[in-house]
Formats: sequence, structure tokens, C-alpha cells
Amino acid sequence: MAAMIPRNKIRAIALYFASQKGAPGQSANPKLVAAGRKLFMGGKIADHLPACMACHGATGRGLLPWFPRLAGQHQAYVIAQLQAFKDKTRTNDPHAIMRTVAGKLSTAQMTALAAYVHTL
Ligand code: HEC
Repeated sequence: MAAMIPRNKIRAIALYFASQKGAPGQSANPKLVAAGRKLFMGGKIADHLPACMACHGATGRGLLPWFPRLAGQHQAYVIAQLQAFKDKTRTNDPHAIMRTVAGKLSTAQMTALAAYVHTL
């Protein structure tokens, strides 16, 4: 799809999407959200897991242009991306940053993180 977009239209399309208001999602599982928040904010020192907020921002809105927004993202998408980084089927992350991070995450941790960022 991207190959069909003329080069001089890319910026306008990006500006359109950037101007959309993101909306926080709901979660029916506050315990899961709290577990995700803890990892997002503090990482897990024992596992050398860095805090997600260090790169994606404390509010999950991302730090541009390198670190994408996670706030409000669909949970299934976040889990699928983390699993793909872990499995090394997604390899476009510079310096394997996310492959390294996701490689340390269990499925339960991915689920908790996805629940949390969905609510941001
Ligand atoms: C050292 C910086 C860094 C840290 C820490 C970090 N990330 Fe990332 N993350 C990135 C970068 C850079 C990308 C963009 C990778 C790419 O271009 O494919 C990214 C991409 C992602 C994506 C894919 C977003 C999308 O729209 O497809 C997800 C999901 C994600 N990170 C979740 C997390 C979670 C959860 C944590 C904490 C466990 C975390 N990240 C910690 C740098 C980081």
C-alpha cells in the first residue's frame, strides 16, 4: 500500500493522522492494568527490563520521531507486535531495541502491558 503513495503526498497523510485525537480505551480488569502500569513505569530490575516510559513517554504518547505512540492502542495489536518482536518476525526496530525488550517479556507481562497502554 505504501508503495502506491506518491512521495509528495506522504507528509500530508502523516499530518492528517497526527491531527486525529486519540481516545483512551476501557479495561474490565483493573488488576491487569495495575500490573501493566508497574512494568510500564518501572520496568523490572531483576530481569534487566527497562521501563517502557523511558522511550515511549510517561503518558505513552511517544517521543517523536523515533518512539511511537502506544496510548489508546488496541490490546490485540500491542500483544501481536510484542510477540513478533520477541519471535524476531518483526525486525524493523533500530538496533534491535524492541526485540531486546520484548525478548524479556512473558505472555502474561505482554497482556498486562497491552491492557495498560490501551487505557492511556
Ligand atoms: C530503549 C527504548 C525503548 C524501550 C525501553 C521500549 N521501547 Fe517500544 N519501541 C521502541 C522503538 C524505537 C520502537 C519502534 C520500532 C520500529 O520502528 O519498529 C518501539 C516500538 C514499540 C511497539 C510497536 C508500536 C507500533 O505501533 O507498532 C510496541 C507495542 C512497543 N514498542 C512496546 C513497548 C513496551 C510495552 C515497552 C516496555 C516493556 C517498550 N516498548 C520499551 C523503543 C523502546
